[in-house]
Amino acid sequence: MRNKIVAGNWKMNCSFDEAEMLVDEILDRLEEQEELECEVIVCPPFPYLEMLTDMEFEEQQFNVGAQNCSAYEKGAYTGEVSAKMLRSLDVDYCIVGHSERRKYFGETNEVLAEKINRLIENNMSPIYCVGEVLEEREANRHFEVVKEQLEKGLFHLDRDAINDVVIAYEPVWAIGTGKTATPDQAQEMHAFIRSLVKEHYGDAVADEIRILYGGSCNAKNATELFSQPDVDGGLIGGASLKAEDFVSICVQASQIKEKE
Ligand code: 13P
Repeated sequence: MRNKIVAGNWKMNCSFDEAEMLVDEILDRLEEQEELECEVIVCPPFPYLEMLTDMEFEEQQFNVGAQNCSAYEKGAYTGEVSAKMLRSLDVDYCIVGHSERRKYFGETNEVLAEKINRLIENNMSPIYCVGEVLEEREANRHFEVVKEQLEKGLFHLDRDAINDVVIAYEPVWAIGTGKTATPDQAQEMHAFIRSLVKEHYGDAVADEIRILYGGSCNAKNATELFSQPDVDGGLIGGASLKAEDFVSICVQASQIKEKE
């Protein structure tokens, strides 16, 4: 049985004051809900992590994730933030391999594999992002691309470590474009990803691993996407910056009957 996850990726948005207001409103709205059946994760920019982990400690309403970490352990790497530093702030999750990092910062599957290693060494859960660009989908290469991202970036992990990983399928053409994958397109890719996990790690791991959908997921389409049998929640960009929409997505996730 898989508990759904809704994770908000704030990307590079919000001043400190705006971040504080946003998280306060998210907390207020979460508190109005009966016990939610889904796990909520908020991934703010680095400078705001501690503000959120402090609140999390008091309120226990959500978990906190970072958006990136260094592939290196420590030392003379100016500007980098290590997995160990994140862990020391009580950060539980970290997004790895977001398409914006792959595209604008040249992150390869090999570098991402190292980032995942640092996170696992520090007892954190990577949220590993995969997904094809539009040209790859149009050329019918989307399965091949996602398979390579998984094989080179993730599948080096052993069975114990893979249990801590969340996978996010984010078709790049759907990110920030308002063009969501159809529920069928999402389901087809999620089932494919789960079948690859099964091939590498067996039935039990494949049944347990959470695979999130990301890309223009919002309060209007969340239920339809999350109702697909292999879609275990969402990684939300734009809509996570509006407390009302984000909490609505969390509520929708928690109302979907869990799949056995
Ligand atoms: P949008 O929800 O803004 O399309 O962004 C998705 C995303 O990139 C989440 O990581």
